[in-house]
Amino acid sequence: MADKIYVDNSEATEAWNTVLFDRFRDYRHIFVEALKLFSDDALALEPPSAGDRVVDLGCGFGDTAQDLARIVGPYGSVTGIDAAERFIEQAIQEAAADGVENVDFRVADVQAEVPGGPYDYAFGRMGTMFFANPVAAMRNVREAVTPGGRLCMIVWRRKLDNPFMFRSEEIVDKYVAPQDPEDSDELTCGPGPFSMANADTTSAVLDAAGFEQIALRRVDVEIEFGSSVEEAVDAAFALGPAAETMRLAGDSAAELRPLIADDLRALAEELKRPDGVVAAPGSAWVVTARSAG
Ligand SMILES: C[S@@+](CC[C@H](N)C(=O)[O-])C[C@H]1O[C@@H](n2cnc3c(N)ncnc32)[C@H](O)[C@@H]1O
Repeated sequence: MADKIYVDNSEATEAWNTVLFDRFRDYRHIFVEALKLFSDDALALEPPSAGDRVVDLGCGFGDTAQDLARIVGPYGSVTGIDAAERFIEQAIQEAAADGVENVDFRVADVQAEVPGGPYDYAFGRMGTMFFANPVAAMRNVREAVTPGGRLCMIVWRRKLDNPFMFRSEEIVDKYVAPQDPEDSDELTCGPGPFSMANADTTSAVLDAAGFEQIALRRVDVEIEFGSSVEEAVDAAFALGPAAETMRLAGDSAAELRPLIADDLRALAEELKRPDGVVAAPGSAWVVTARSAG
């Protein structure tokens, strides 16, 4: 077997443990609610079986780990894994408060290891796109899964079909030159959320990692980005590609924020529903595969 390739992931882990954790917590009611639309669909399509041992990759606040724990029932178990310890601390607290007993959480970088296996089923909602070395990471996942065990991961599809994020990014790009992450003083979080949007590339990554029966199913939803225009503008500045361009550009972009906010406001007005909520289509892949063993 080839030697493992270790990737220094400390900068991305620090980003997730600091600024990105804070933003996810503050905008959880928007972003995690949106992601739930995709995971509800994925777990209806490809649920684990009762009694399965499950791993949730990049589990964040642990809400999908809790969903999975309920599905596998008392004879099954779920381990939520995240590189950022603040997410894991929060996930542990919430599972205890909700009385979910067949779930545990661990701080671990999937690019280095997937501890606690073997698992029958590996799940990931919008976490695997941030792996700087996706083949190495997904190989760790495959090695932690029993032969024939299942993978189900949710990743964003192409930007064009996620118009709020895409058009927000276009607006920011008009004013702020995208920064080479190497030149930025800010912490970077690895490849962006759309790094697994290309079906052929993602299939090739999984194939190289030792998965087979790889299938991608498109799921389209309507995402609510804010209960008002102002909230949607704030959300665009908080998370996603537009927010990352702003953040990495630092002070020079902060000065331009009022101008950019005007354009984002116009976008949000255009997308505002009669009830005042700003909503737009969102599109993801539910990727399923089996460990080749
Ligand atoms: C966009 S958030 C999604 C969180 C959660 N799955 C959800 O859907 O709410 C991405 C998560 O992946 C985690 N993550 C990123 N890279 C990771 C890695 N190499 N190993 C483990 N977790 C990672 C981050 O810390 C973060 O919690």
